[in-house]
Amino acid sequence: MARGWKIQERRHAGEEHLDAEAAARFDEKSPFDPSTEIDTLLELGLTGEDTVVDFGTGTGVFPLAAAEYCDRVVAVDVSESMVKIVDEKIEATSIQNIETVHDGFLSYDHQGDAAAYAFSKDALHHLPDFWKVEALKAIGTTLEEGGMLRLRDFVFSFDPQDSQAAIESWLDDKRSTSFTEEELHVHFREEFSTYGFLLEQMLAEAGFEIIDATYETDFYAEYTCQWHGFTE
Ligand SMILES: C[S@@+](CC[C@H](N)C(=O)[O-])C[C@H]1O[C@@H](n2cnc3c(N)ncnc32)[C@H](O)[C@@H]1O
Repeated sequence: MARGWKIQERRHAGEEHLDAEAAARFDEKSPFDPSTEIDTLLELGLTGEDTVVDFGTGTGVFPLAAAEYCDRVVAVDVSESMVKIVDEKIEATSIQNIETVHDGFLSYDHQGDAAAYAFSKDALHHLPDFWKVEALKAIGTTLEEGGMLRLRDFVFSFDPQDSQAAIESWLDDKRSTSFTEEELHVHFREEFSTYGFLLEQMLAEAGFEIIDATYETDFYAEYTCQWHGFTE
């Protein structure tokens, strides 16, 4: 039974991800080449025996690429429009080992063998910080001991003293992209990107060891983490 104090993940998923027409334009607007991520998972030891779970899969670009290299991929998204797009893409191929699940980070209930790898790109910032920790704990419970998480997201690494100037400068740079001014503003006003120093602490408290943290810009981070579970 849904508990009244728990967050309704769908309400924070972003209108552009829930709306069927906007979701259909997602790949064109936010193209993603998954090849470097596949290479990274292979370097980390991904085998054809493994289960992989992608949280906030969107249009399923990552699971469609990963399916060839593992036993089973679960593509999880809280948006039914996104899940429908992934289902249609799968149907257009002969791929048999991807399952789509219409669920959130928090409501997903993993079935079957524990996953060796979890992946999440550009989705965790939809949750406020308390719920990010809950989500990271939930991701951990899908993983086998020693399982790996590749997490990528919009994360801040500018000096908090310079936040406003950094954001104004970022907005200036983004004005020539396919995103409207309002879409860019919504990211700060209504979504929950957080600082890297906070997210690193959250990962640790949730039971992950950070093997690598990369901050290529002040607005984006990539983490490779290993699940060790909760310490007493
Ligand atoms: C910016 S898109 C990224 C999609 C994909 N990972 C990619 O990088 O191409 C964010 C996705 O996260 C999903 N999402 C947002 N909140 C979520 C939640 N709490 N649980 C699962 N998925 C969520 C949205 O529906 C959307 O499909």
